[in-house]
Amino acid sequence: SPDLLVLGIETSCDETAASVVARRHGRADILSNVVLSQVEEHAAFGGVVPEIAARAHVEALDGIVAAALAEAGIGWDELSAVAATTGPGLVGGLIVGAMTGKAIAAARALPFLAVNHLEGHALSPRLSHGLAFPYLLLLVSGGHTQILLVRGTGDYERWGTTIDDALGEAFDKTAKLLGLPGAGGPAVERMAEGGDAARFPLPRPLKGEARLDFSFSGLKTALRHAATQAAPLDEQDVADLCASFQAAAAGSLADRVTRALARLRADFPDLSEPVLAVAGGVAANRAIRARLEEAAAAHGVRLVAPPAALCTDNAAMIAFAGLERLEAGRTDPLAAPVRPRWPL
Ligand code: KG4
Ligand code: ZN
Repeated sequence: SPDLLVLGIETSCDETAASVVARRHGRADILSNVVLSQVEEHAAFGGVVPEIAARAHVEALDGIVAAALAEAGIGWDELSAVAATTGPGLVGGLIVGAMTGKAIAAARALPFLAVNHLEGHALSPRLSHGLAFPYLLLLVSGGHTQILLVRGTGDYERWGTTIDDALGEAFDKTAKLLGLPGAGGPAVERMAEGGDAARFPLPRPLKGEARLDFSFSGLKTALRHAATQAAPLDEQDVADLCASFQAAAAGSLADRVTRALARLRADFPDLSEPVLAVAGGVAANRAIRARLEEAAAAHGVRLVAPPAALCTDNAAMIAFAGLERLEAGRTDPLAAPVRPRWPL
């Protein structure tokens, strides 16, 4: 039987998710990972509507939690603790998840863990690959683009961040501009498969600069210009624009990461197997993974990328972050507040 079983709850944006993660003989096992996307609810509005998101979480969460327990094949009395995302994110959704988690913890007299969503992403490569600390992490999601040194659970050093848009946001805006249906990033990736990445020369912002920061708003603007000039757009034009955008984004990430890897090598000359990990929704992109793999290999560094289902928002990463905090004795009071803004 497992040493510890943690229920995780994630409601910070437009996914309602619950998961049970177990610690068994030192290993972390995902016993269930249930995710309900609200993409359909928000489709007509061209973006996530906070009030609609919060109401959808209220309606779905009890059923999603029950499904996570059922899929894991466990009952309430087998849980060791409950973890919920308490920030950063949309306040309404955060309250729904935090209140549900706290209610379960109170009713079953279990420890509660208030988890930072970004910490969930940051630890996801450790969950999927059992990574040891320290590792370098490129966190690329809808709201964040950062390079972090992950020194331990709760111990993160930020080496770089975006000075304007997050990369996921740039993918979403590109999809919207080009009229692609459904979730932005995956739609751009799908279109890019049939496209010519060399057709539209797009900038790689901050390329060559010593600082480890990112910038994507110039790329977004350049893409809009290219699209306007090529209009009216046929299917091939759209595919070429997507491929060119994706290549520019990947090239920009690779340039920044290459500098960070040099610093990692210099700061930790004794690491026997230095690792670059990627996490967050954009890390699900195969072209970006391939480009980062190249950049890492050029430095003799291993690239670790969780499976796509652990890159995009999920509750397994929240349960796992909670599990690691529980083991470190860092539980939270039921009065723990939600924090819509909460840097790592
Ligand atoms: O981590 P995540 O699910 O939620 C946040 O914490 O923000 O990331 C969502 C972001 C969205 O902007 C989405 O378009 C992007 O990740 N994304 C992708 C792909 N899948 C999701 N971007 C590029 N390629 C993908 N395959
Ligand atoms: Zn996320």
